[in-house]
Amino acid sequence: MSSTRKPTPPPRTEAPSRPLIEPGTRVPEQEVSRLLDTVLKLAVEMMNADRGIILQRRGEELDTVAAHNIPPESAGVLSEVSSSMVRQVLKTGAPHLTHDAQADPRFGQADSVILHQITSMLCAPMYLDDRVIGVIYLDSQRDRQRFNDDNLSFVTIFARMAAIAVDYAQSYGELYVKKQLLQGELDQLRPQFEEIIGKSPKMQEVFDLMRRVMNSDISVLIEGESGTGKELVARALHYNGPRRDKPFVAQYCGNLAESLLESELFGHKKGSFTGAIADKKGLFEIADGGTFFLDEIADISPTIQSKLLRVLQEGEIRRVGDTESHLVNVRIISATNKSLKEEVNSGKFREDLYYRLNVIAVTLPALRERAGDIPLLAQHFAKKFAEKNEMPVKRISPRAMQVLANYSWPGNVRELENTMDRAIILSEDDVIDIDDLLIPEADRMLSPYMTLKARERDIVLKTLEDCGQNKTRTAEILGVSLRWLHYKLNEWKSQNK
Ligand SMILES: Nc1ncnc2c1ncn2[C@@H]1O[C@H](COP(=O)(O)OP(=O)(O)O)[C@@H](O)[C@H]1O
Ligand SMILES: [Mg+2]
Repeated sequence: MSSTRKPTPPPRTEAPSRPLIEPGTRVPEQEVSRLLDTVLKLAVEMMNADRGIILQRRGEELDTVAAHNIPPESAGVLSEVSSSMVRQVLKTGAPHLTHDAQADPRFGQADSVILHQITSMLCAPMYLDDRVIGVIYLDSQRDRQRFNDDNLSFVTIFARMAAIAVDYAQSYGELYVKKQLLQGELDQLRPQFEEIIGKSPKMQEVFDLMRRVMNSDISVLIEGESGTGKELVARALHYNGPRRDKPFVAQYCGNLAESLLESELFGHKKGSFTGAIADKKGLFEIADGGTFFLDEIADISPTIQSKLLRVLQEGEIRRVGDTESHLVNVRIISATNKSLKEEVNSGKFREDLYYRLNVIAVTLPALRERAGDIPLLAQHFAKKFAEKNEMPVKRISPRAMQVLANYSWPGNVRELENTMDRAIILSEDDVIDIDDLLIPEADRMLSPYMTLKARERDIVLKTLEDCGQNKTRTAEILGVSLRWLHYKLNEWKSQNK
């Protein structure tokens, strides 16, 4: 093969205006295709070629992944270029150059050469390690433009780099798609427990713990004062976990007659006691495959404690009056508002059962320990009530909100919910004010963060009350004029409207 030496045009050095593959870019498939187009365009420009094409191996097939000056819609683009040359390069893995295609006995007869008056053709393999993953093909139809050996060496190296870039982009694309899929799965596994309101750090800790135990079968003991949301958490664990399509069965265990509770939990055989007129399934059997929530567990009797231990240890239950056992598969979540540990210490609760129930303990904070969540919860309940009763949501006045936030809530979230429901009914307009809350005057504590105006009002109203609504006396004690007092009282009255 002869060659007329011509200086190789200098490679373009300017960087592309933006990275070809930007991290986080959507639809990476398109990005790979954009990368290939850019690679081919660079090769065509640097070689001053007329046409170019990148073909990539996909198994036994050859795909056109980029084309320059060859109409992309023309079917079987390979027949447009010199297919015999491309096949040879793919087979041998060696780059190829021909200067005078018309005269070359190997290619001259090919239709495509004649058709396009190709004078010079160049084809370089795209190597990835020792595999040829495709080729870059360039040709020139002009009489004077002939590729030389330098061009061939350059394109050969260029093709290697292009192969690495394409492979990188494709792996990136695959990883990106995998990441998206995993992220989707992860999001499903990481529910935000929307029905449980709480932005405070203490509740965030609870959510973290819930997420960690949600997908396992381990027994969870939920501790917390009455009304802190123990049952809500138990339900959330069940309905966000793998047993969500199976039953969630809750049984209150506090202050129940032992025989009644026993028959409820484990069922009974016909005739096992007066009134047992038929065989009865226990709740454990009904909960089979699902979750059993034992509420106020601290109060159960020693007999039931030992039966429960059997369920946890052997997965077996025996109906009252039965000689046979049944296998059940239940996840146990229990709750208590007492300290179960103390019950163990005082000998009222079996220690072995305690450890079986308390594989993980979730402790719910009292509402007063997360006072920051009170406004959120109050608004949540105002909205919930409105939705349930198909009425507009009532606003909570700033002063009422302050009283809510400062109250100690011995009955926790349940008490707040009841207070809100009641206040909505009591309030005669669209605003919930202090008087609608029915929180005793003595419990309307002043916050150290109260505004001066609010403090002023509080002090004046309290003094007025102490003076049996006697305004002259009140003004005297406070060292203000009667006029000022009247003015203020009128102002507050109109604010309350
Ligand atoms: N964090 C919370 N967000 C929204 N509602 C709550 C929350 N905690 C409790 N509640 C509501 O308060 C009431 C009492 O909750 P519950 O789970 O029965 O408490 P516990 O079992 O601890 O006595 C329920 O109506 C529940 O929906
Ligand atoms: Mg409860």
